[in-house]
Amino acid sequence: MSPEFWWYVTRASALIAWVLLVISVTWGILLSTRVLKPNDNPSWLLDLHRWLSGLAVTFTALHMFSLYIDSYAPFSAADLFIPFHSTYVQVTSLGKWPIVLGVLCAYLLIAVQSTSLLMKILPRRFWKAIHYLSYAVVLMVSFHAGWSGTDVRAWMYRVVAILLIMLTTAALIVRILFPKSARTLSATVEKRRPNQLSEVKRSMYVRTVTHPATGIKSLTFADALVSELPTWVPGSHITLHLPDGMKRQYSLCGDPADRSGYEIAVLLSQQSRGGSKFVHEELHEGSTVEVSGPHNHFELEPSSEYVFVAGGIGITPIKSMIESLPARRNWRLLYAGRSRESMAFADALEQAFPERVIIHADDEKGAPPNLDDFLGGTSSPVYVCGPEPLLNALMERVPVGKLHYERFSAVARDTEEGIAEYEVTMSHSGKTFSVQQQDSLLEAITKNGGGLISSCGEGVCGTCEVRVLEGKPLHRDSVTSDEDKDEIGVMYPCVSRSSSAKLVLDI
Ligand code: FES
Repeated sequence: MSPEFWWYVTRASALIAWVLLVISVTWGILLSTRVLKPNDNPSWLLDLHRWLSGLAVTFTALHMFSLYIDSYAPFSAADLFIPFHSTYVQVTSLGKWPIVLGVLCAYLLIAVQSTSLLMKILPRRFWKAIHYLSYAVVLMVSFHAGWSGTDVRAWMYRVVAILLIMLTTAALIVRILFPKSARTLSATVEKRRPNQLSEVKRSMYVRTVTHPATGIKSLTFADALVSELPTWVPGSHITLHLPDGMKRQYSLCGDPADRSGYEIAVLLSQQSRGGSKFVHEELHEGSTVEVSGPHNHFELEPSSEYVFVAGGIGITPIKSMIESLPARRNWRLLYAGRSRESMAFADALEQAFPERVIIHADDEKGAPPNLDDFLGGTSSPVYVCGPEPLLNALMERVPVGKLHYERFSAVARDTEEGIAEYEVTMSHSGKTFSVQQQDSLLEAITKNGGGLISSCGEGVCGTCEVRVLEGKPLHRDSVTSDEDKDEIGVMYPCVSRSSSAKLVLDI
């Protein structure tokens, strides 16, 4: 073996580890800020981030091992693991510091990587605090690599080093400018809030119609003028603007990668107030209808494992979530319904994912699904869409932060009534007005020129969402959990009020 072999290994592994680390941190920043949204995908961002960081640790280990073997720059085990032990100096004015930083980086990398592997069982705050150290690592590595390698004076090395330092700087600037947490809900507030004065509608025609189950009609809408529709993420819905002025939201259930059309599946409801009746009776291939959106209140957050529960037509957003997941992602689905004939996509899902999908048709099993057996004490996020009893049963079993849901209808909110009169300020116009407890906040906003668009008026669809800048709302909607709304600072004024004397809204 050439005597230079281990020197080459040392230098190559160092450079590769550095490149991987910078890209991994950059990827992590893209994941936490979602600045590329909606043209990214949290699942593959997370996969790639983990894969790159694992690889960076592997190459770091190889770098240390080859340093130990290589005789060109002699390093003992103590030199590699004890700061200030090595006497190796490449740039005299910096003394031992570049090597010391390298040793410290190795420890920090191990801490970051091992806590990431144990993420599921560690308190999230602890994991996060350690994970933030990766920013320090990437900066320290720049100094270590830039001033301690035997080839630091080679122009090629300098070019690579400058590029990596520039990329690191750019990534950290993005992180500072977009400090919001990785919660996808918060990252999508701007995107999914079609505030205020108008909403963009497009005239779409029905391209295809199918009947995937008894009483369910599936339609794909396309735009004759554009071949590529706006991107959307699983869990999104579109709003159909019916000729009589009604607006109805339906979850998209197709493949998010197919941008040629929006697919929905609609159950003909016995209690239809016109929406599903119109879809079933008036919309045929070639029919046109105005459509706005897609918007999203039910977004899939990055996770290594998912549990899905769908009841009846609640399968629609869940289906698009499942179809967007990478092939090797861990997930399982419990899909419950009254009978197999009434369960859209049941057979297709079962055939495509026989190991992961449990179809529970009441008429076949003779009893409701056993949720305790299915959940099995999972600590994974649970996504559910279905009727109220199913949702309530899951709320009793899954911790608040782990349960993500979408409702079909408004729930009776058993909350206190809020204060008798409160003051609302619209931050854009500076206008302030008073609202009585029993009055609609949405109407008061509209009367005062706020121009919020709305749809259901029942706190279900999420259309009237508005960001709260100051004050404490009294949530009375059924869109998401109160914790989620408070975390991202939004409210739905069609039904919600204030529990503080003053509210400042971002309108
Ligand atoms: S209009 Fe539907 S939630 Fe307010």
